[in-house]
Amino acid sequence: MDPSIHHAQGLVSSSSQGLAWDGLSQRLGAPPARLTLAKLPTPVERVPGLDVGGAEVWVKRDDVSSDVYGGGKVRKLEWVLANAPYDGDGPILSVGGVGSHHLLALALFLRQQGRSLHALTFTQTLTPHVRRNLAVLVSCGARLWNVKSRARLPWAWLAYHVWRRPERMGVSMPAGASTALGCLGFVEAGLELSAQIDAGLLPLPRVVFVTAGSAGTSAGLALGLALAGRSMRLHLVSSVERWGFNGVMFRRMLGMAHRVMVQHGLPASQAKGSAGQLLEHAGVTWCIDHSQVGGGYGVPTDAATQAMEDARAQGLRLETTYTAKCVAGMRRALAEHPVEGPVLFWNTHASNDLRAHVREGWQADCPFAP
Ligand SMILES: Cc1ncc(COP(=O)(O)O)c(C=O)c1O
Repeated sequence: MDPSIHHAQGLVSSSSQGLAWDGLSQRLGAPPARLTLAKLPTPVERVPGLDVGGAEVWVKRDDVSSDVYGGGKVRKLEWVLANAPYDGDGPILSVGGVGSHHLLALALFLRQQGRSLHALTFTQTLTPHVRRNLAVLVSCGARLWNVKSRARLPWAWLAYHVWRRPERMGVSMPAGASTALGCLGFVEAGLELSAQIDAGLLPLPRVVFVTAGSAGTSAGLALGLALAGRSMRLHLVSSVERWGFNGVMFRRMLGMAHRVMVQHGLPASQAKGSAGQLLEHAGVTWCIDHSQVGGGYGVPTDAATQAMEDARAQGLRLETTYTAKCVAGMRRALAEHPVEGPVLFWNTHASNDLRAHVREGWQADCPFAP
């Protein structure tokens, strides 16, 4: 067995903030395999420069979750890449925009394993950040089957399977690595936050703001907080249109992740009933906010651009597809419904400097003029 894979029984993580806590695997009778890719737990930090009225903003620094590529994706990949059908040695096929953080994370971690990424991509607004992600993606050796818009993705799928088939077909992975097992990365993140509250590293937030795309992050977090018995409100700022992320998709992901934990030995008290009942029993509530989608997925808005600049002044590197829209959504929500006391912004975007990965002449391997 790969020595980097472990069944985290008995594992106690610790961090510079002095936290000792039990991970998700210790709560499961038969935990799934898992890779160690992330540096967990990630710190929590008070950032007064982002306060809105009486709301005191804390930040969950998932941006520093890995020296390779942090953010939220690495939490999911720890579980996804350790288990079938993604634990082989062949390529993986996945899907996303040309600036997708999921594709970027996957390309970087697969390269470490000597494997390759095949990607069905669609062109999105080429902000400098998106262009940088694309440059790294292509430089890592990812092969792209690109189309001009999300609506045309079926053509990319056909091209991949019919007229531009690669010599070895990739195992298909959903967008955002949001499989049931992928969600477990964020179930553990919820437990991690709860342990940090217990340890006095931050006060109990009145609201947690997190951005949502393919639902794995937010559904996992909600379940993790519920398993920890934390009564908390989640405000999910969607980065995609209603048809891309909504209550039906969120509940579906909750159910999938809950079922996989039941299969892996979740204690009977938490296994009985539905995922929704588990949340209800713990007092975890949620709402979905589409106010920041603006011109669509990946299209910057003025509010997000402003939020990104303000966050940068506080030492935080955000981007306008997800995390800056989340801060913009947080600002709007707190202006409309003021909160006194602590709130938490979960920063899911990796802050790694990836410039060294960019290969000179990468544009020649890009299927369109970037
Ligand atoms: C930086 C960042 N934050 C949050 C998300 C949303 O996560 P999810 O797709 O699990 O909803 C993504 C998705 O790609 C992302 O790239």
